[in-house]
Amino acid sequence: MSRVLHRSGAIPPAAVGGEGIRLRLSDGRAVIDASGGAAVACLGHGNRRVAEAIARQAGAMAYAHTSTFSSEPAERLADLLLDGTPGGLTHAYFCSSGSEGTEAALKLARQYFVEVGQQQRTRFIARRQSYHGNTLGALAAGGNRMRRAPYEALLSPAFSHVSPCFAYRFKRNDESGAQYVNRLAEELEEEFRRLGPETVIAFIAEPVVGATAGCVAALPGYFERVRAVCDRHGALLVLDEVMCGMGRTGTTHAWEQEGVAPDIQVVGKGLGGGYQPIAGILVAGRIVAAIRGGSGGFTHGHTYQAHPVACAGALEVQRIIREDALVANVRRMGGRLEQALTERLGNHPHIGDIRGRGLFWAIEFVADRASRAVFDPALRVNERVKRAVLAEGAAIYPMGGTIDGRQGDHVIVAPPYIVTEDEIAEIVDRVGRGVEAALAGVGRG
Ligand SMILES: Cc1ncc(COP(=O)(O)O)c(C=O)c1O
Repeated sequence: MSRVLHRSGAIPPAAVGGEGIRLRLSDGRAVIDASGGAAVACLGHGNRRVAEAIARQAGAMAYAHTSTFSSEPAERLADLLLDGTPGGLTHAYFCSSGSEGTEAALKLARQYFVEVGQQQRTRFIARRQSYHGNTLGALAAGGNRMRRAPYEALLSPAFSHVSPCFAYRFKRNDESGAQYVNRLAEELEEEFRRLGPETVIAFIAEPVVGATAGCVAALPGYFERVRAVCDRHGALLVLDEVMCGMGRTGTTHAWEQEGVAPDIQVVGKGLGGGYQPIAGILVAGRIVAAIRGGSGGFTHGHTYQAHPVACAGALEVQRIIREDALVANVRRMGGRLEQALTERLGNHPHIGDIRGRGLFWAIEFVADRASRAVFDPALRVNERVKRAVLAEGAAIYPMGGTIDGRQGDHVIVAPPYIVTEDEIAEIVDRVGRGVEAALAGVGRG
């Protein structure tokens, strides 16, 4: 019996230790953490430097309220992240989860327009098949139908949704990539028109859609078009990089590969690598200036915002990523991972697409490759694959509802940034064996 409210009735095995890319379970098994949990554990497990930095800060000064005090770790973490003013981002607000980060982004965007005298802006446009968190504001922004369903009645009508840029599923055969991007930009423009462009606060999107659709990068030019639509109508662009950011896709920020920069960026997961619960927003100077010149401060806050111990952990994680040039390793090992996954599984009759960037890869399963028909959701193919891969000694991240929140299956492979070439081979071997075993049995109960 467990008194912890686990996701399902079953008690999952306990993880008791970890070193490098491996986790050790209470029954003695060692499992490769091939997805870093949900693309979190960017440095792997058991990093002594990070553990010691956390212990040092906890011993020196664990907590002081941010209404009265700052802390050295929060100041240094913001300095490090904003060094060189990336994309015009000048300030950081730290919180404890990606969902809190999204809430802060939504509220700051709204407050900005209140400060500059545009109170009529009350709407957000987001995308279907996206995820921005599970608190009610973030859930309303998200387009993950499955996660929204029980709570629809509680979700704010301030949010509306347009199509994702998801070429494998939604680009028509009779249109080029550029035509598809054009169609999506026009759809966004039309949504601004429908709402009244002067009522829109921001467009919010994940530069590379994470768990909901499975590592879906936009086609070239998409985000430039989106940025132009937002600019034309005076709306902000909020990019949610909780999953795809902080180096995961091969650049510190995923937007660097899109030729645009956001007005507000949400970061999480890889920021602290799982050593502490920490996330945050990075904010453009003009937004901070408007607030400083108006009411003076962000009307928002949490008890544990900019928690010194969490910031100390994240600061050490980020220092190590820079000192060890780990984002370059993400690019190098990402290339290996793509190649190995494609060689091993690219011709499998039940694999429709292998896609991703950096060390952020998804495998999408289909009943039939030619028609891209999905498996019956009742078969829970993604769960079966997860279980079979775990039986082979690797943990990956499964998800159903790839296409519309109900149909489609994929799994995510997102190893820590420290992964080596030999470990990539070992991961792909285990994933390959698990996938083959799970799919061989599909449909036969
Ligand atoms: C893109 C994105 N945004 C927001 C969140 C919410 O983060 P958290 O689970 O830390 O609240 C997630 C979590 O998976 C995410 O992937």
